[in-house]
Amino acid sequence: MWKVVWATLLLLATVCAQRGYAKETKGAPKVGHVSVVIVGGTGDLAKKYLWQGFFHLYANQVSSGYSFSFYGGGLSPNDKATPILFEALKGVVCPRELSVERCALVKEQFLKLADYWQLKTSEDYQALGKHLTEQLTQEGIVEAGRLFYLSVPAFAYADIAERINNSCRPTDGAWLRVVLEKPFGHDFSSAQLLSTQLGTSLKDEEMYRIDHYLGKQVVSKILPFRRENSKHLDPIWNKHHIERVEIVLKETLDARGRIPFYDQYGVIRDVIQNHLTEVMTLLTMGLPANLSDVKEVLRNKLKIFSALQHLDRNCATIGQYQNYNLEVQEELNKTKEYYSLTPTFAGIMVHIDIAQYEKMPIILTSGKMLDERLGYARILFKNDIFCVQSHSSVHCKPKQIVFYFGHGTLQYPAILVSKNLFKPDLMDTEWKEITEHKDVSVLGMPISDYYVLTPTVQREAYAELILHIFQGRKDSFISTENLLASWGFWTPLLHGLAKTSPRLYPGGADNGNMLDFKLLGREVTFANEAVVMITQDHMGGSGTESFQVMQGKYRSAEMVSAWPEELIVRLAADLQASAEKAVREGGRFHLALSGGSSPLALFQRLARHHYSFPWRDTHVWMVDERCVPLTELDSNFRTLHDHLLQHVKMPYFNIHPMPVQMNQRLCVEEDSGALLYERDINQLVNASSFHFVLLGVGYDGHTASLFPGSKLDAHGDSLVALTESPAKPHQRMSLTLRAINQAQKVGVLVMGKSKHELVTQLSRVKDNPNKWPITAIRPTSGRLVWYIDYDALLG
Ligand code: BG6
Repeated sequence: MWKVVWATLLLLATVCAQRGYAKETKGAPKVGHVSVVIVGGTGDLAKKYLWQGFFHLYANQVSSGYSFSFYGGGLSPNDKATPILFEALKGVVCPRELSVERCALVKEQFLKLADYWQLKTSEDYQALGKHLTEQLTQEGIVEAGRLFYLSVPAFAYADIAERINNSCRPTDGAWLRVVLEKPFGHDFSSAQLLSTQLGTSLKDEEMYRIDHYLGKQVVSKILPFRRENSKHLDPIWNKHHIERVEIVLKETLDARGRIPFYDQYGVIRDVIQNHLTEVMTLLTMGLPANLSDVKEVLRNKLKIFSALQHLDRNCATIGQYQNYNLEVQEELNKTKEYYSLTPTFAGIMVHIDIAQYEKMPIILTSGKMLDERLGYARILFKNDIFCVQSHSSVHCKPKQIVFYFGHGTLQYPAILVSKNLFKPDLMDTEWKEITEHKDVSVLGMPISDYYVLTPTVQREAYAELILHIFQGRKDSFISTENLLASWGFWTPLLHGLAKTSPRLYPGGADNGNMLDFKLLGREVTFANEAVVMITQDHMGGSGTESFQVMQGKYRSAEMVSAWPEELIVRLAADLQASAEKAVREGGRFHLALSGGSSPLALFQRLARHHYSFPWRDTHVWMVDERCVPLTELDSNFRTLHDHLLQHVKMPYFNIHPMPVQMNQRLCVEEDSGALLYERDINQLVNASSFHFVLLGVGYDGHTASLFPGSKLDAHGDSLVALTESPAKPHQRMSLTLRAINQAQKVGVLVMGKSKHELVTQLSRVKDNPNKWPITAIRPTSGRLVWYIDYDALLG
């Protein structure tokens, strides 16, 4: 078999100097033979992009001393798949720089070097491995490496990786590179599992996880652009100058033909968790000293991931195009009653918790069936100039930098900088400035108002990345740490949205403004009321949606009940009313807050909607605390800090965490932490009577950290005590019954179906503090109000 050698010699003899963009890079393979195997070689991706990309690689590299062989692998037998493979191969087109004659020659050789190989069983892989090695011996050539491109569903990865590891590893000294296409998991734990499985067969440096956005010319130049223009950008790349960042991928296509995949993933997993998130990190990460230092780039990216503020469902709006459900019913063989909640549109707001970007909104949005195909990242700067007359003059216009990935009005990739910002420097000779334009507008501004940079030659993302794989350039691929950090960030939102009905939209221009969304504090909501397209069935058919707030009596005290969101709205309003009254009357509001998950929604509501709350005159106290450092995630104070305190403007000295950690130890009696807290209450709170104490109630009837069976009488006249919980961490510090019962108002918040049993039981039991500490809550001269949502009340 002299196929490889002949093809190479022929080309070497005829091909004159190549355009050498594959310059030697660190870690570049030694010259020799490269076997390329596309597993899934007759699939859609291979036909559309991969063979084209490998052909470009071949055309550009063959004269540099490498020889190649190409295999399209698949499950079908040879006779069936070979014609399909060759049909795809015949369709490849030459790079522009090749002359017609050379193109014909290179293409002919490329076809000769390609074969189909059935890859169904372990034996098939063994046979392939044997063949690859034999070919080298027969032809007396040195091996440079083996490249396996897995263009198959992710569930097959682990098995294939194992087979490659067992039977297809290259000869000594040659490299193995295994390329993986997304999806890399479905959420954090599945991604972790997949990484562990792959890790048993492949080394990290052998895995190349593709995100084709990193191969887009504009995306790959974000860091070089930032570096090259740092003298202009450094002073303005921060929250003081940036109004917001928008990262947008609009598509006109639907998901037809891909529903079995798409319906399990949806828009957030399909493009936001990966493509748009990658762009976000490139825009916001600290600039590495060396842009091609993979480790430094990763370190800086991970810093961004660890500073991303937790997302909950209020940070996102989701939609689904109207025909989607029909497509799902058809492609998944579902009945007419089946409704998919998979979003095909999402608008999400992200914040990064570092001083440089604090409170600066970053919008990530994408959708199928929108009005146009367009992808871009826009940095919109604040304009501090007030134009009195000449609004059309350049300095009155929006100041923005647009990383334009392609399509849209412009139809080519470009980086655009408003002329009222600065004139950008070119990153390298592969980019040029365009000064002659056709008359188009880009994001609301005529193109003549921008400086426009564009690549001299446009290249397909896959071709670019395939070249990087060949060169061993790992900086354009997703490392395991990067992947897990991204899933770690997105998973809570995905879980939070899992049961949310997306807004239905008709698709295309008919969507009008129904998907527009607005940013309100940390919340994102659709800007316009929903057009009623959602049927009762689609909503889950409960039919009892009512937004009334009901008032009544519970355990002979006042009770307010409503659906969860309404209840929180009401409780937050009651709190604000108490605060305003207290401040009006005495200049201070003393509020004691509990931990647990029920008040989280309240904290978020207060942080996002109650801008007129008198925080400046409010003192926040803790009802109870776990004996753990205040920085730990299960500290009540930490929860309160993360969800409320850090978002409101309140003097630090008005915040009173419980002193559970003293002398480098936790809750030790002799350290007198409880006494210290009591002394502060006595000194600062008028008559030691809090204006409002917010409590919860546990499944066992405990409240604050007062648990069944603990001798509550033993606390005597103390206001604060060390207590024991049956659950970990056992040690607690808590306000006593006395401290709570002398408050002016005590609210008990009970939410969720899981509390229904408890609510029913408590409604029947007599006061029995030893068994049900919550029944001992009887304010001596204040009010007790139960806030119970319908889920807990009605089950
Ligand atoms: C893919 C998604 O990763 O990216 C597709 O699976 C999406 O759903 C595509 O259409 C968008 O890529 P591009 O390059 O067309 O913007």
